[in-house]
Amino acid sequence: MNKLLLGDNLEILKTFNADSVDLIYLDPPFFSNRNYEVIWGDAGEIRSFQDRWVGGIDHYIAWLKERVAEMHRVLKSTGSIFLHCDWHADAYIRVFILDKIFGANRLLNAIDWCYNVGGKSKKHFARKKDTLFWYSKGPEWTFNAKEIGVKRDTGSKSMGGKIGVDENGRPYQDKMVKKTGQIYRYFLDENKIPEDWWIDINSIQSGSKERIGYPTQKPEALLERIILCASNEGDTVLDPFLGGGTTVAVADRLKRNWIGIDQSVQAIKVSELRLQKQRDLFTTPFVV
Ligand SMILES: C[S@@+](CC[C@H](N)C(=O)[O-])C[C@H]1O[C@@H](n2cnc3c(N)ncnc32)[C@H](O)[C@@H]1O
Repeated sequence: MNKLLLGDNLEILKTFNADSVDLIYLDPPFFSNRNYEVIWGDAGEIRSFQDRWVGGIDHYIAWLKERVAEMHRVLKSTGSIFLHCDWHADAYIRVFILDKIFGANRLLNAIDWCYNVGGKSKKHFARKKDTLFWYSKGPEWTFNAKEIGVKRDTGSKSMGGKIGVDENGRPYQDKMVKKTGQIYRYFLDENKIPEDWWIDINSIQSGSKERIGYPTQKPEALLERIILCASNEGDTVLDPFLGGGTTVAVADRLKRNWIGIDQSVQAIKVSELRLQKQRDLFTTPFVV
């Protein structure tokens, strides 16, 4: 079941059965008009990919749209998709691709992933967030709230309200809705579901232990939250823009089946090595 596939994801996705995947995460080129390059290791290997679009935004959107249409086809009716993008094209992607293919009513969240590393301009506010559009294919989807709970911030003013201990010894905080006077009780020994802005996961830094030298590598903690909340053990997770293999490495660790696609030989090689390091017993890659 687990596969690393080399080639253009459009052609490869066309060979997949419809309704066969539970969760898709994609981190495509962002329309940044840059080429990404990292020189890695003692041998000075160049790990790179291109993000330049001669035909402008229309060309980029058409290119991505036909791929997302295939992703929609291969998703199960209970499946969902996280599309990772940033300010360069997020508005276009939401309106011209995702709303068109999945339907605007299938948008579950437009998550802001906020970080603070990397360069900053002196001419405008620092652009330090990416967007994760989360859409379901149908009216039912997986959301494991308990798996991704985070501690309540009782110190914050917005929590407000009286703190106490109930008759069973459970610490709580009460919050009153001013308009209605209704009081809601939050138990402090229970985690809460994170909001749709994530500020507790930073991006990969130069000295970071998990850095494998693949340009624009995403942190494992980000994929962990996505995979834990939107899939179950034994489900199939697909990343059609695999890069350095973050999605498949995390999916493997979390006992999901996985499929990774990339058109770069380096990406497939780096991901394979990463998986091999993570566990000795590695399923033989099936390369198209
Ligand atoms: C932003 S990187 C992904 C980084 C990845 N999320 C990680 O954590 O390492 C995008 C990847 O998409 C790949 N790619 C671009 N166009 C593709 C296509 N048409 N088919 C398959 N892979 C493609 C590039 O080779 C690159 O590795």
